[in-house]
Amino acid sequence: MSDAPKPTLAPVIAVDGPSGVGKGTLCQRLADRLGWHLLDSGALYRLTALAALNREVALDDEAELAAVAAGLEVEFVASRDQPPRILLAGMEVGVELRGETCAAAASRVAALPAVRAALLQRQRDFRQAPGLIADGRDMGTVVFPDAGLKLFLNASAEERAMRRYKQLREKGLDANLMSLVEEINARDSRDAGRAVAPLQSAADAEVLDTTSLSIAEVCDWALRLAARRFDFPKIA
Ligand code: C5P
Repeated sequence: MSDAPKPTLAPVIAVDGPSGVGKGTLCQRLADRLGWHLLDSGALYRLTALAALNREVALDDEAELAAVAAGLEVEFVASRDQPPRILLAGMEVGVELRGETCAAAASRVAALPAVRAALLQRQRDFRQAPGLIADGRDMGTVVFPDAGLKLFLNASAEERAMRRYKQLREKGLDANLMSLVEEINARDSRDAGRAVAPLQSAADAEVLDTTSLSIAEVCDWALRLAARRFDFPKIA
């Protein structure tokens, strides 16, 4: 047995919760504020789904989908105050990834254990100094069970659908509130009901219902907890 000291792992803030709850915005702001790296794990499931759709791989062919996930040629190009640009095999795919077709396909491929296993190490590789903000469904329970701070956000399905509706309308896109509520409910029950890594808060997570909170209030809450948990210069 070697007595060599173990390298210290970079700290992680795990942020989990259902679709449309505001994790993405919170994580982007935390990463900017703290100067930490960002993992958008949902994008990896969306990328797997997009690559599978492009190659006409059936969304229930677990072995083939796991091979697609393992072989993803993806690049996240970080930029301050903006979501990272996402390249799949050198092509910019950010807009396609955010569409409902990709979202629904992602939640189907994400239910397959072999796909989740194929993406596990790729997610852990994002853990680099000075720290990582990890956004997903199972960050605190499966991918980074030793995260120094675990946050779990929630909000009613109606409120989450309304936020998505406003976002789409602001972009000048057509949107139907009722079908957004239905889509969110369908995705929630698939994500929470699957056998492997279901959406659930870790036992040691700090839970916040954001239904009636602004993004600034949610950020303040998260920064206050982070300042208490980690030893960095005053940030909140
Ligand atoms: O977070 P986002 O909406 O981009 O995630 C897309 C889908 O990927 C989710 O509906 C969920 O099924 C899946 N996902 C997951 N585990 C994660 C992140 C996302 O199963 N850590």
